[in-house]
Amino acid sequence: MLCHKFLVQCLSWGLILAGAMHFASLLRFHASYGRYVGFSTSVWMVPARLAWFLQELPALLVPLLLFLTSSGPHGTGSYLLLCTFCIHYFQRTFIYSLLTRGQPYPFGIMVTAMFFCSVNGFLQAHYLMHCAAYDQTYPSTTCMVTGLMIFYLGMAINIHSDNILRNLRKPGEIIYRIPRGGLFEYVSAANYFGETVEWLGYAIATWSLPAFSFAFFSICFIGPRAYHHHRFYLEKFKDYPRSRKPLIPFIF
Ligand SMILES: NC(=O)c1ccc[n+]([C@@H]2O[C@H](COP(=O)([O-])OP(=O)(O)OC[C@H]3O[C@@H](n4cnc5c(N)ncnc54)[C@H](OP(=O)(O)O)[C@@H]3O)[C@@H](O)[C@H]2O)c1
Repeated sequence: MLCHKFLVQCLSWGLILAGAMHFASLLRFHASYGRYVGFSTSVWMVPARLAWFLQELPALLVPLLLFLTSSGPHGTGSYLLLCTFCIHYFQRTFIYSLLTRGQPYPFGIMVTAMFFCSVNGFLQAHYLMHCAAYDQTYPSTTCMVTGLMIFYLGMAINIHSDNILRNLRKPGEIIYRIPRGGLFEYVSAANYFGETVEWLGYAIATWSLPAFSFAFFSICFIGPRAYHHHRFYLEKFKDYPRSRKPLIPFIF
């Protein structure tokens, strides 16, 4: 397949625009899932495990499909970066989703997220498989090595923090407690901090418009939600540690 440069540009700038619009809207309104599900107008709810599995799966399947159906040499750099993207979504689809103790999830949000994951999976994989022109030395460049180290550090923080949150509940419980330990000692949304670090690392490693657009979108989505989580804790728990920031340790 040829590189569809125009499509890649359109989708990347579309992600940036969607991120900016989400940011503006999420400052005032909540993304209506999880603790904010009460604000949702959706009447159909899906068990959290099924919802997360179905919504994240396309971000793994679409890149795998593109990889299996594309021919020709793509270079080690592209393969490594595609693997990195797939490892994240393998974890989210087959581990996070199946372990979550989250409350039922709005059907409408699940479908929107499925669409997002399909488009983004296509964008990132198509770029890596057909547009990127990394030479054979790219995997040992500072950009790629540093970016991947940041990515895997972020992934470790994200998984560890999600694990702390999961263990705040017994199976079947829908209750919120104060998260403690790990980076939760510094921020209210340590899992989002990990996710942010991950995609920034991926953008640095890839050094591409599609990856920077996805990192930008993630920050626009996660940033306001981290702020709302922080406010939620402060309002709900009188003994909530005042020194914690919403998303970035010591800063914000
Ligand atoms: N790349 C992106 O743009 C993006 C966007 C969104 C999410 N994500 C990632 O997807 C994962 C899940 O995101 P999320 O928005 O669902 O995260 P979240 O709001 O922090 O919730 C994570 C899980 O922990 C539970 N939980 C959260 N705080 C809790 C507390 N204080 N006490 C007990 N249980 C608690 C939630 O239950 P409830 O669901 O019942 O609240 C949910 O099951 C995260 O790793 C996040 O980084 C990525």
